[in-house]
Amino acid sequence: IWTGPQPTLREMGAEVGVARTFPVGALRERIRKAIALGRRVHYLPPYRGETKLQLADLLGIRTGALHDHKSVDLMLAVAEMREIKSAEEIEALERAFPIGYAMHTTAMRMCRPGVVEREIAGAIEGISKSMGAGVSFPSIVSQHGETLHNLRSDGVLEQGRLLLCDAGGESLEGYCSDHTRTYPVGGRFSERQRAVYEIVLKAHDDVAEAVKPGMMYQRDIHLLSYRILAEGLIGLGLLRGTAEAAVEAGAMTLFMPHGLGHGLGMDVHDCEAFGERSFDFSYIAERAAASGTCIYRSAWKVRPGTVLSDEPGIYFIPALIDKCRAEGLYKGIVNYDALDAWRDFGGIRIEDDLIVTDTGCRMIGGGKHIPITVDELEAVVGK
Ligand code: GLY
Ligand code: MN
Ligand code: MN
Repeated sequence: IWTGPQPTLREMGAEVGVARTFPVGALRERIRKAIALGRRVHYLPPYRGETKLQLADLLGIRTGALHDHKSVDLMLAVAEMREIKSAEEIEALERAFPIGYAMHTTAMRMCRPGVVEREIAGAIEGISKSMGAGVSFPSIVSQHGETLHNLRSDGVLEQGRLLLCDAGGESLEGYCSDHTRTYPVGGRFSERQRAVYEIVLKAHDDVAEAVKPGMMYQRDIHLLSYRILAEGLIGLGLLRGTAEAAVEAGAMTLFMPHGLGHGLGMDVHDCEAFGERSFDFSYIAERAAASGTCIYRSAWKVRPGTVLSDEPGIYFIPALIDKCRAEGLYKGIVNYDALDAWRDFGGIRIEDDLIVTDTGCRMIGGGKHIPITVDELEAVVGK
């Protein structure tokens, strides 16, 4: 009466290759028996509240103890399966791309003075629904791009200010796209905006050029982006000395306080919910490192079939600048006096999604890309 005929569990299972299914109600008895026989019940660290309650109830343990008994074997097995994409999964990711393309080019065209950020967010989220399975994460549409995940979209667009749009859609199968573009309201980059933009774009392009199988995400990819950005900031007079020394000292964390990228697939930050960020990881770090999967980023080794985002940025975050300065950090490296003139600049991030191939990598998008160069953006923004 309310929802119409629904597929049975058996039918849904058959669709994804699960040969045997049982009523959910049978789970309790099954688990009780397994526990009575001394068998290990493998489960992933849960992150949804209702799953935690359900699991704790089924296993007869406190929710607070769930992390103590999670299955590292299952985590690593699932991470491996999810990280290395099959041909079908890559096709699904390719189907998510046109959704992201339509969302971003629509945002660009709408980017005129007087428009409210949420009008753009609403329009592009509508596209994600009309073309696919909805957004792959809540859209970030803000002139305060220096706030990395700024979900407030109540600003009114002002001529010349930078708008950062980080948004993506899901294919009907639930595979994600995740792209960011940053451009000035009205469509004309100022000299300063263009200078910073070109630096971030170089980092983005050089990473896309460099990534190949066997590279370590942190050491070979993330730090590469930091060095390129540091070189650019030296050119602007905001850093002193060599790029190498600035990166070594940690000074780049002031300008890009996030990783260059993350795994991507069925989730926009794939497998992160059971990775190092979600709980005390120290006691399984060694095993996670040996596996080389994305759940442990500092030991993540990219392989053919790995999909990761390439999203460098430069942000001028007044609170962070003040904090680092007050703490005397990066003395002689960061030119704090010069930074005074950049406090209201905002932030620039540029993001695309890469698939590691047998010999290198390629961008998702079937050869097409979302406008990205200054010229390409100036031709479409506000038009
Ligand atoms: N969309 C969030 C991120 O790029 O990490
Ligand atoms: Mn993003
Ligand atoms: Mn991303």
